[in-house]
Amino acid sequence: MATVFVLANQKGGVGKTTSTYNLGVALADIGQRVLLLDLDPQGGLTYCAGFEPEDLGKTIYHCLVRNTNPREVIVSNEYGVHLLPANIDLSIAEFQLINAPARERRVTRIINELRDDYDFILIDSQPSLGLLTMNALAAADQVIIPVSCEYLSVRGTRALLKLVAKVKGQLNSRLTVAGILPTMFDSRTLHGREILKLLETEFADLHLYPHTVARSIRFAESAAQRIPVFETKIQVPGALAYRELARDLVKNK
Ligand SMILES: Nc1ncnc2c1ncn2[C@@H]1O[C@H](COP(=O)(O)OP(=O)(O)OP(=O)(O)O)[C@@H](O)[C@H]1O
Ligand SMILES: [Mg+2]
Repeated sequence: MATVFVLANQKGGVGKTTSTYNLGVALADIGQRVLLLDLDPQGGLTYCAGFEPEDLGKTIYHCLVRNTNPREVIVSNEYGVHLLPANIDLSIAEFQLINAPARERRVTRIINELRDDYDFILIDSQPSLGLLTMNALAAADQVIIPVSCEYLSVRGTRALLKLVAKVKGQLNSRLTVAGILPTMFDSRTLHGREILKLLETEFADLHLYPHTVARSIRFAESAAQRIPVFETKIQVPGALAYRELARDLVKNK
């Protein structure tokens, strides 16, 4: 049965989508059955995985709002991951669900149907703490918090932790924070090194993953080419962090 992780941080551009995709591919590479769930109307994960979000007939929106069977919507790519895709339609789901019964549990319902088919389900969430993120937290077992190594990113993390505590109290008592994943780390800058230290002290009660993802332009390049970062010709040191994290997740399953 799948363990469900959500990659969340309401701060934009901290590496949620990049981490979801590359971690997913790294898990698939070591033999895990992986489903990625795009819960961001920007459809970035869907794009990275090789699909044109606006060309898709059915997306997670249909599962959430129209009760479409998720198996009719799941697509897969050559890198071994399955994907429940999203596009801009998802942005209206939040309004359409506002009066729906159990509106915070729509994603849970979808995941419960699929849980037995996978070892890992990774949810990419949007940079907000709205209903969709709440749904993701209600459905997940664990949260991975990507934090880019800059001060504003650290500052935003507290608000997410408050929402996690709220969801844990009201909707999902199983929910735990798996860890904080430092991303876009530049060891040459003093600021980057200071932020790593700050993460250790600010979140001493949480697990700080030792697999720091180094900054590299290869992440943006590989996303544009729609290939996992492991497929770039030159080995990317930051990519190794995702391989190590994948091994950790399997070991601790
Ligand atoms: N380790 C890294 N080094 C350098 N650039 C990176 C790294 N990881 C991700 N990026 C780039 O940073 C940008 C933002 O990353 P990404 O889209 O994964 O963040 P996000 O948190 O999902 O953003 P949003 O909040 O908008 O959903 C992208 O262009 C991505 O290619
Ligand atoms: Mg994203």
